[in-house]
Amino acid sequence: MGENIQLPMKKGFGATDRVDDWWTSPLAMATYLGIMIVYATWRGFMEADFWVFSELGLSGGQGGAAGTMAIESEGSHVLSPLFSPLIIPGGAGLGGPVPQFLWWMSPAMFILIFPAGFRGTCYYYRKAYYRAFLQNPTACAVSKPWNQYKGETGLFLVQNLHRYFLYAAIVYLPILSWDVWQSVNFHNADGTHSWGASVGTLVIALNVILLAGYTFGCHAFRHLVGGGANDWTGSGVARLRHRMWRMSTWFNEKHKDWALYSLFWVMFADLYVYGATMGWWTDLVFWGGVT
Ligand code: FES
Repeated sequence: MGENIQLPMKKGFGATDRVDDWWTSPLAMATYLGIMIVYATWRGFMEADFWVFSELGLSGGQGGAAGTMAIESEGSHVLSPLFSPLIIPGGAGLGGPVPQFLWWMSPAMFILIFPAGFRGTCYYYRKAYYRAFLQNPTACAVSKPWNQYKGETGLFLVQNLHRYFLYAAIVYLPILSWDVWQSVNFHNADGTHSWGASVGTLVIALNVILLAGYTFGCHAFRHLVGGGANDWTGSGVARLRHRMWRMSTWFNEKHKDWALYSLFWVMFADLYVYGATMGWWTDLVFWGGVT
C-alpha cells in the first residue's frame, strides 16, 4: 500500500522553490484577457441606450440605425462580429419578435452569453484564468493565497455546460459566414446589387476562419465526432467520423493558439468596423463595389 506523502512546500502567496519566471505567463494572460474583457464590455454597452453612453455610440434600439456596429458607407455592409446576429428589439429581421420594451439593450447583450460562455468554459481558458485571475491554483508548485484547493466543485460545476455552448458556437459559424456573404453584396443607389469586396470583407472572413479553427479543435467537438467509436473503417459514416476526428485532433493540438488569436481577431474586427464608422479610416473597396 502506498502512503500519502506531503511534499514540503513553502507557504504564503507566491512562495515557491521554483527558480524559473513562473509568474510571467499568468501575468501576461491577465493583461491580455483583461484588455479583451474591458474592450468587449465597453463596446457592448456603447451601443446600448444607457444615458452614460448615448453620446458615444448610436444604438439601433430606437431608430433602427446601425450605429457603429456596421460599416454602411460606399454601398457595403460589414457587420461587426460582436453584434452578429443583429438583434434590434422591434426592428426588422431577428429583432422582430423581441419585445420593444427591451429597446435599451445593445444587440451585443442578447448574444454575448454564447461566445462568452463558450470561451469561459473552454478547457484552455479555464486553465488560463484560474491562474491569472482566481489564483486557484496560482501556478504549479507555487503557494496559493489560501490553503485549500477544491478543484472544480460547487459553482464551478457550471463548467460542465461547455458542450452546450459548443453547440451554440457551431451555429455561429454559418451566421458569421452569412455576414461575409452580405459584405460582398453591394447596394447600388437604384436598389440593385453588385459584387465587390473590401478590406472589411477580408477582416470578417479571417474572423470566421479563426473561429472555425478554435471551434473544431474544441475537446468537446473532438469527442462529439469521435467519442465512443470503436470502428473507424466499417462503414462510410465510420470513415467520415474518423476523418473528422483527425481534423479535430489537428486543430486541437494548437487549441491554445486558436483560442488566443481568434479572441484577438474578433476584437480587432470590431475595432476595424468601429474605426471606419467613426471616420478614422475608410473601408477600402479593392474589387467591384457599387456601379
Ligand atoms: S475546450 Fe476550448 S473551446 Fe472547447
